[in-house]
Amino acid sequence: MTNPSGFGAARRLTFHVPLSTTRADRLVAELASRKPASVTDFGCGWGELLLRVLDAAPQAHGIGVELHGPDVERARGNAAGRGLAHRATFVEGDAREHLSPADLVISSGAYQAFGSIPDALQALRPLVNPGGRLLFSCEIWERTPTAEELTNLWPGSTVDTCLHLPDLVDQAVAAGFRPLGIETSTRGEWDSFESGFAADAEEWLLANSNHPEADAERARLDAHRTTWLRGSREVVGFAFLTLGVPTDTPRTAERP
Ligand SMILES: C[S@@+](CC[C@H](N)C(=O)[O-])C[C@H]1O[C@@H](n2cnc3c(N)ncnc32)[C@H](O)[C@@H]1O
Repeated sequence: MTNPSGFGAARRLTFHVPLSTTRADRLVAELASRKPASVTDFGCGWGELLLRVLDAAPQAHGIGVELHGPDVERARGNAAGRGLAHRATFVEGDAREHLSPADLVISSGAYQAFGSIPDALQALRPLVNPGGRLLFSCEIWERTPTAEELTNLWPGSTVDTCLHLPDLVDQAVAAGFRPLGIETSTRGEWDSFESGFAADAEEWLLANSNHPEADAERARLDAHRTTWLRGSREVVGFAFLTLGVPTDTPRTAERP
């Protein structure tokens, strides 16, 4: 038996990104006020953001695509529990194989589905219907990490893993979007997220210190805390971009 504490399932979290419900509900209200008919969330996790949009936009139908089966089950259960199952479809699979265009496209903490951050912005642009919106959120550098901080970050992290905020917005513009909203998570949102991610497993450890898996769980939790407190906390931010696309198709170059 491995991971009996459920570490990683993130049951205590509302979102799988550093996002407060206050910020989420404001973003959702802004996006829903445009009355999107279709919403696609690529890498939707357990679908909380998509379900909030559907709740606020009663005319909308939504598709959430997610690789992780247990999150898809959680999303379907939550949709049914809120009376949204008839308007919410959750697909277990790879985002790149389910490229449904929509009036509102969401990619929140899930750019990896399309490669790098610039790759994701380029891939998502044609999926946003004319006049539509993309809510794009991802990690950013608050400052460039030192070599030691990089070794304490997630395995494989390099200085190119994230962008600084101005460069991120420039990449969005280069992909064909205009920036309508640019905001970043607070330290409090990050701390709630990281603490909430570990809390169930920490509680389990306190109650099961003689369990045969206790040492392995303690090691996982300690490594997670090191990544956060000695790696990401000072240097990794999180940006939420509300991006618009033109209502008309771009002009083709005129002949001289
Ligand atoms: C940090 S979580 C964010 C989840 C959700 N968007 C939220 O805000 O709560 C990133 C999610 O992207 C999913 N993901 C990563 N690559 C994917 C892919 N190629 N296709 C679909 N989902 C993917 C992961 O399984 C994970 O659930």
